[in-house]
Amino acid sequence: MSKNFYVTTPIYYVNGDPHVGSAYTTIAADVIARYKKTMGYDVFFLTGTDEHGQKVEETAKQKGYTPQEWTDIMAPKFVEMWKALNIEYTDFIRTTEPRHKEAVKKILKKVYENGDIYKGEYSGKYCVSCETFVPENQIVNGNHCPDCGKELRVVKEESYFFKMSKYQDALLAHIDSHPDFILPRSRKNEVISFIKQGLQDLSISRNTFEWGIPIEFAPGHITYVWFDALTNYLTAVGYENNPELFDKFWTNGEVVHLLGKDIVRFHAIIWPCMLLSAGVKLPDNIVAHGWWTSEGEKMSKSKGNVVDPVAETKKYGVDAFRYCLLREVQFGNDGDYSTKSVVTRINSDLANDLGNLLNRTLGMYKKYFNGVIAAGTTRDAFDDEIENLWNETLKEVTEQMNIVQFSKSLEAIWKFISRLNKYIDETMPWALAKDEDKKDRLAVVMNHLVNGLYKTAVMIYPCMPTAAQKIWDQLGVQKPVRDAKVAEVEGWDLLPAGHVLGNAEPIFPRLDLEALEPKKDPMAIDPELVIENAVDISEFDKLKIQVVEILEAGKIAGADKLLKFKVSVGDHARQIVSGIAKSYPEPEKLVGKKVLAITNLKTVKLRGEVSQGMLLSTEDKVNGLKLVEVDKSVVVGSRAK
Ligand code: ME8
Ligand code: MG
Repeated sequence: MSKNFYVTTPIYYVNGDPHVGSAYTTIAADVIARYKKTMGYDVFFLTGTDEHGQKVEETAKQKGYTPQEWTDIMAPKFVEMWKALNIEYTDFIRTTEPRHKEAVKKILKKVYENGDIYKGEYSGKYCVSCETFVPENQIVNGNHCPDCGKELRVVKEESYFFKMSKYQDALLAHIDSHPDFILPRSRKNEVISFIKQGLQDLSISRNTFEWGIPIEFAPGHITYVWFDALTNYLTAVGYENNPELFDKFWTNGEVVHLLGKDIVRFHAIIWPCMLLSAGVKLPDNIVAHGWWTSEGEKMSKSKGNVVDPVAETKKYGVDAFRYCLLREVQFGNDGDYSTKSVVTRINSDLANDLGNLLNRTLGMYKKYFNGVIAAGTTRDAFDDEIENLWNETLKEVTEQMNIVQFSKSLEAIWKFISRLNKYIDETMPWALAKDEDKKDRLAVVMNHLVNGLYKTAVMIYPCMPTAAQKIWDQLGVQKPVRDAKVAEVEGWDLLPAGHVLGNAEPIFPRLDLEALEPKKDPMAIDPELVIENAVDISEFDKLKIQVVEILEAGKIAGADKLLKFKVSVGDHARQIVSGIAKSYPEPEKLVGKKVLAITNLKTVKLRGEVSQGMLLSTEDKVNGLKLVEVDKSVVVGSRAK
């Protein structure tokens, strides 16, 4: 079995800053890369930036730069972000690099020589935001992109086409015979049914703008940005300039592309067809993850709810942020990023389960054995359970990681951590410590705990490299956990008798949700305010609210809540009965006041008295009911709108 592993992220467009979405894929790739290293693989991890195309060209122009200047400003932002998130990639590719241009030339030449490129004319719609041609039958809302919803442009130009249709059957056969080609498997059907609708040949050249890689056999044309971008996966492992590296990681490696569900079709259809035509092996897995929203809403710059990963790591720490992203949702499903769920996760899984386990264990070891590993031989059934569960955990983690299921793999690790916590309650070291005869048994118990933590550190290392090292440091292990291999931590005697443990320090402080939840200024205007039971202006217009002047006011015999008014509506007078007697013990004092009344209510009779409208009043705890008075100068009969 090959022990070479090649993992990629999409190369991100440089039209905007990196954010939690790009961070998610990149962290996932980092975790799997580190994991494969702990499994003894040689790993190549690639990320980078997609710098050509109309979208980038137009963004650059808007910002007042040439495309090259703009990409030179943006690419380092990605590099910096990945550094801040502790991403350890092997290579960062920019599609404007000469090595990439050479690789694109090479694949184009191969495809061309294979007779799969012909000249034609593209006439149809194009989405600049997705950099994709949109067939007529997929257009939505008149003239909009079915994926991003943005308005489409009309394109009519000479173009070279790639005979993608030729590979339809070969691709279907490949998907059929490689059940894990598209992961999660649930995504597979969507791709298959799309292919079965019939693959169209793909326009792979543009000639109405400049920002792209020129095509040798097609003067005046540049390479369609997706054909250019996808090739990056070959470029970086030496397709054009390093056959040895290429053989190792592409031809003889396990090749895994991670990406969001937005770009599955490019990766699961266009890309394999390109490779089939160029005579290059297909990747092993195309793994699509779901979409992140923020506090329940689609992230967008205009809403201002785009999650900035660096700000998040400042609040929670890099490891905790990485953990929450991968643990919170199953890879493949959509997820919502919220302060509440992050804080809850950190407090329960990290501070409580793992942090406390480490703290209690080291505290007890210090108390009972002065922090020096003691030898013991007295075993108990609980020990077998722990050891068996460890074996199961390893198996489960391997299975889950092989199908890129981070949350399930972390779940398995946490099951082991919880089991260790339970083991403390079962074995009760504090009780054993009271009895000198039980010291040997106490040593066995404590050793299961420190060894369990030693192993746990190796298992969480891919996701939380810094915390894993801190655990080893506190266990007094003077080695870098990054070099550890899972195969080396199988035993239960990793710390020999006499080994001196380090000092306990909290690795994940508990967080206070209230202090972290975004505080809203209640008096700030919120454009997104939700209005309950909202009515249309036309509904409101049905009500006639007018200024009336009170001409007479008095009680109604036998009705202690009601007052009877004679009011002027300007051109006529009316009688209105109102239930406000409690607030106005001396109603005659109201005479002369101008108040608001609804004047198109149906006439009713209250206690035998006719009421031809309703006086508007407010109600609060201090005043009870109060008539809505208007300024003396307002003309009686005028309408409130
Ligand atoms: O598509 N949730 O680049 P891109 C989850 N250049 N993931 C998200 C996300 C969100 N809200 N937003 C972005 C491109 N992503 C092309 C790729 S590859 C040969 C060329 C992640 O900048 C996710 O991985 O639009 C998605 O696939 C990718 O960013 C799209 O990045
Ligand atoms: Mg995009």
